[in-house]
Amino acid sequence: MFMKRKKLLLWSLLMVISLLLWGEGIGNAAVTGRCDNCHTMHNSQDGSDLYASGPYDHLLVGGCVGCHSSSTEEQTYNLGTSTVPVVNYTGGEPSTYLAGGNFWWVATAGGNDDTKGHNVMEISAQDTNISATEEAPGNTYCTGAGGCHQTLAVKQTVQSTLGSGCQGCHLNVQHHTYDGSGTKYVGTAPWYRFLSGHSGGAAANYGVEGIEDDDWQKTVSAADHNEYKGLTGENSGTIMAGDGTMTAFCSGCHGNFHSEQDTGTPGQWTRHPSDFTIPNSGEYASVADYDPLSPVARTDSAMTGFGDTPSATVTAGSDMVMCLSCHRPHGSPYADLLRWDYSSMVAGSGTGMNTGCFYCHSNKDQDED
Ligand code: HEC
Ligand code: HEC
Ligand code: HEC
Ligand code: HEC
Ligand code: HEC
Ligand code: HEC
Repeated sequence: MFMKRKKLLLWSLLMVISLLLWGEGIGNAAVTGRCDNCHTMHNSQDGSDLYASGPYDHLLVGGCVGCHSSSTEEQTYNLGTSTVPVVNYTGGEPSTYLAGGNFWWVATAGGNDDTKGHNVMEISAQDTNISATEEAPGNTYCTGAGGCHQTLAVKQTVQSTLGSGCQGCHLNVQHHTYDGSGTKYVGTAPWYRFLSGHSGGAAANYGVEGIEDDDWQKTVSAADHNEYKGLTGENSGTIMAGDGTMTAFCSGCHGNFHSEQDTGTPGQWTRHPSDFTIPNSGEYASVADYDPLSPVARTDSAMTGFGDTPSATVTAGSDMVMCLSCHRPHGSPYADLLRWDYSSMVAGSGTGMNTGCFYCHSNKDQDED
């Protein structure tokens, strides 16, 4: 009798644990739960509009911004059995944020600083420093009046099938597509974090590849993080054509910052290199532990070796510096969406600092050589 109760207790405990683990696992695979948590069939209840600002696409109860914002949770909140990653905290300046950063700093209703985020429709007005006619800095495609890479802050009508605002980057969202559970490599549609481009025509639908951390880096450490793919070379003209790299993705709108990074001879830099291998020599050779504040991109073969598990190690001579080594894509507390405070990085300061620029340029803080 006593044994039986103990067994039952153990059994219930196991059930609770596996349910908890299962709950953790589905956090990052596809949405789950009752349809009416997220959809409304007619945007109508008791004869009145359910949402004055609706109806929304796909019969949703809100738009991208509405569902991915929160005034109480800085990183994630629960919507039925689904976990929503928060990208726009509205309850004041957030002290924590997910991998992409947070829009609070650039939001009109938040920090309202145009330099600290991408100015995105329904969050901010157009950037006052980079006007729409100036386009995305470094833009090479779809230029000129009404060009689709001029601003993400207003609806673009040049090619209506290509997105505006959030969907300027997350072109084809597929919330119901199951792409595996937990932390895992995503190498086909719906692509890494629904990030895809449209070079090669919409049908080609090339997208970003990488290892998706199961909680979007809510918890993060050297061994617990996303992994990004890189490819050395200019890859101009073939951007997103099957490369699957994050740098090629950013270059879709900021092309010259990559294709004009050298004089034609790698090593003769005119703009900071991205998707260039960190040399296994000199000051660079000391890179060793992965730092989520200065992430690197990995080669195809390194990624294959990782399987679904991120690596805690950075390998000079193989891993690459890339756009996200220095920037967050959404917004950050720092100007130019930087991952860290650039103004605190002072050459010769002798602070022994090893993040930011000093992660790779490890001897530039030394006060004597
Ligand atoms: C946690 C939120 C959530 C729940 C629960 C949910 N959906 Fe969705 N659904 C979405 C979002 C967001 C989209 C937006 C477009 C996309 O990503 O495909 C969507 C899109 C769709 C689409 C159009 C795209 C497609 O994949 O076919 C259909 C149909 C759909 N949902 C049906 C349902 C039904 C039926 C249920 C209940 C059985 C349900 N959804 C439950 C969030 C949800
Ligand atoms: C009704 C709520 C709802 C709406 C509306 C909604 N989302 Fe989501 N979104 C979710 C949930 C829930 C998840 C987490 C799904 C999961 O666990 O994979 C998610 C996940 C995501 C992700 C991360 C996917 C990943 O691989 O981790 C992106 C990117 C995203 N949404 C973008 C968008 C964009 C862009 C729109 C507007 C077109 C949008 N969402 C509209 C609820 C919503
Ligand atoms: C300039 C391109 C761009 C725009 C605009 C953009 N995103 Fe993202 N988003 C990204 C990138 C890149 C990532 C992957 C970040 C990483 O893994 O380091 C991402 C990640 C995400 C995630 C996963 C959580 C995270 O922080 O990694 C969600 C959810 C998401 N975006 C939703 C949105 C929504 C909603 C909007 C509009 C309000 C939006 N994004 C606008 C590029 C963009
Ligand atoms: C769909 C087009 C598009 C993509 C893709 C895109 N950007 Fe941008 N980006 C813009 C536009 C438009 C601006 C100028 C207006 C603004 O600041 O939002 C901009 C501005 C910026 C700025 C300067 C912000 C400021 O206000 O000073 C940085 C930094 C930046 N982008 C980095 C990135 C990175 C890193 C990626 C890849 C993760 C990326 N962008 C992908 C369109 C894009
Ligand atoms: C080594 C760090 C580093 C890398 C790698 C990097 N950036 Fe930057 N980026 C910066 C810094 C720092 C600034 C602002 C100050 C400056 O330009 O010196 C900046 C500014 C920008 C701006 C704003 C320009 C303006 O006119 O205001 C954009 C856009 C941008 N970066 C996009 C990118 C893209 C796209 C990539 C990848 C192809 C990239 N960055 C790679 C550090 C970096
Ligand atoms: C993730 C690694 C990484 C980070 C972080 C990084 N760099 Fe670099 N940087 C490189 C690599 C790799 C090169 C090219 C080295 C070569 O040509 O051998 C480079 C080249 C440069 C050059 C040109 C050197 C030359 O010989 O022409 C400058 C200047 C520079 N970086 C400054 C910075 C600054 C400033 C920061 C911070 C805003 C920064 N870097 C952050 C990896 C990085």
